[in-house]
Amino acid sequence: MDQISKQILFSRDEIQKRVREIASQISKDYAGRELVVIGILKGAFIFMADLVRELSVPCKVDFVRVASYGAGSESSGKVVMTKDIETSIKGRDILIVEDIVDSGLTLQYLVNWLKERNPHSLKICVFLDKRKRRKVSFEADYAGFTIDDGFVVGYGLDFDEQFRFFPDVYIIEQ
Ligand code: PRP
Repeated sequence: MDQISKQILFSRDEIQKRVREIASQISKDYAGRELVVIGILKGAFIFMADLVRELSVPCKVDFVRVASYGAGSESSGKVVMTKDIETSIKGRDILIVEDIVDSGLTLQYLVNWLKERNPHSLKICVFLDKRKRRKVSFEADYAGFTIDDGFVVGYGLDFDEQFRFFPDVYIIEQ
């Protein structure tokens, strides 16, 4: 990381505050219900862990692994599911949790995949909404932060599998 120029974009304190706000909104929206929260590996693991611990509604958790990026920073445009959920979601209230939406292809693919299993409802919560490179029309139901463009790492987000563990989010120049 020392060789790469980096700038802090969102501090851990800002992130914690925003996660609490989103969790509070979700808890209000789902009051009296039980959620099935589905995280998209790997990037969502930290955001999801923080989010579910701030919810005041009960939830079950599951994960999918949907890969769309290669080793660099550009999306390949090809989405591949390598791990499916293990929970029955028919008739359930589903919240997909994702670290970042960029082209929108990953979430478009996953939403279609999950809707075929007839959930009662399906909403999407993203930590970062990156809007400039969108290839499909897509709006998250809950979004932590919005950025126009730029490559970000930390809080689960990687660059070539590095830097996911940073507690703060950085924007890097390559
Ligand atoms: C990243 C990110 C999202 C997806 C967003 O996943 O975590 O899942 O790309 O891009 P899109 O909106 O252009 O589809 P990646 O495939 O890099 O896997 P990772 O979660 O393991 O980092």
